[in-house]
Amino acid sequence: MFESLDPMPPDAILGLMQLYREDPREEKIDLGVGVYKDASGATPVLRAVKAAEARLQQQEETKAYIGPAGEERYNEQIQRLVLGAGLSQALTERAVCVQTPGGCGALRVGAELLRRGPEVPTVHVPDPTWANHVPLLGDAGLEIQPYPYLDRETSGLRFDAMAGYLEKLGPRDVVLLHGCCHNPCGVDLDRAQWQAVLELAQDRGFLPFVDLAYQGFGEGLEEDAHGVRLLAESLPELVVATSCSKNFGLYRERTGAILLLSGSAGDAATTRSQVLNVIRGIYSMPPAHGGAVVDTILADPVLRVDWEEQLAEMRDRINGLRARLVACFAQRGDSGRFAFIAQQRGMFSFLGISPGQVAALRSEHGIYMVDSSRINVAGVNEENIDAFCAAVIATL
Ligand code: LMR
Repeated sequence: MFESLDPMPPDAILGLMQLYREDPREEKIDLGVGVYKDASGATPVLRAVKAAEARLQQQEETKAYIGPAGEERYNEQIQRLVLGAGLSQALTERAVCVQTPGGCGALRVGAELLRRGPEVPTVHVPDPTWANHVPLLGDAGLEIQPYPYLDRETSGLRFDAMAGYLEKLGPRDVVLLHGCCHNPCGVDLDRAQWQAVLELAQDRGFLPFVDLAYQGFGEGLEEDAHGVRLLAESLPELVVATSCSKNFGLYRERTGAILLLSGSAGDAATTRSQVLNVIRGIYSMPPAHGGAVVDTILADPVLRVDWEEQLAEMRDRINGLRARLVACFAQRGDSGRFAFIAQQRGMFSFLGISPGQVAALRSEHGIYMVDSSRINVAGVNEENIDAFCAAVIATL
């Protein structure tokens, strides 16, 4: 049976981890896969996570199954984190929030659910979007269409073109939006643009599906949830995929959640039964550990403060690096081509250089980034920033 299968190329992002590991050059620079790195280039376990894990190790009494919805206390905490306490309370009868294996699990569960309706919707994704959105949503059987998003000339948002596109959609359409810290380009909607998207959704009846994988990495936990909360306040239905990979640094623990708003309490009960059925049919139930860690942190005022402080340190470091990069490029004669990096938010920016230049940076300088020229800003540090900027300028 297997001899008839065609081999697949390595994943465009995860494949870089292997290439980087195998590169023997000491001066190599990893700006590939999206994991936070501190000033020393390490991705440490967060302090609050360590403390919560120690506590869990003492207190955990069973490894019995947790069920398809995961840990209910975690689900409640995540719903409050995403929506804020007041809105979460106000929407509680219409909301369903269940734990998933990472944001990827949430995206796939959402896609499988959308496919169960009487008419299979089309999902419209920004151009560009995270490469894994396409298989996560498309392999569930949904048609994927790109909508205009990044202006590759100015590295800003083509909002008029985006709004013009959304204006033509209807109730059988789903629009994927990045809640904050757009992956891969770092270009986000401002508040007026979120308001315009809300009005378009109200007018045209399409369903927003927000991927909120970086809450807390852009401007702050509350600020980064602005768009999601605005939509949740006014729309009858909404899908949100959220992740604790980045903001809790729980990458390998696969900890996320899907949050769904339905038009009524009755619809929410049906939605919940469908979601649990989808989950049972794919992976039965999520792994428990990451959810227990997050729940322990969010329920404990001391751990929570410490987590928020460390999250702010990560965010401030990335935003500081953005300014440092622009200054460093300018020192090397850049006349403003890379100034956009300081305007963008989150882990990623597109350098806007060609695949050939990306390949040259890798082969000649040991600098690893995604072929699209996406860089993980957090991979830059005081030791490598000069070499990185010099190599980019030399390659142009
Ligand atoms: C990334 O975009 O690099 C991360 O979200 C990791 C991944 O799974 O692609």
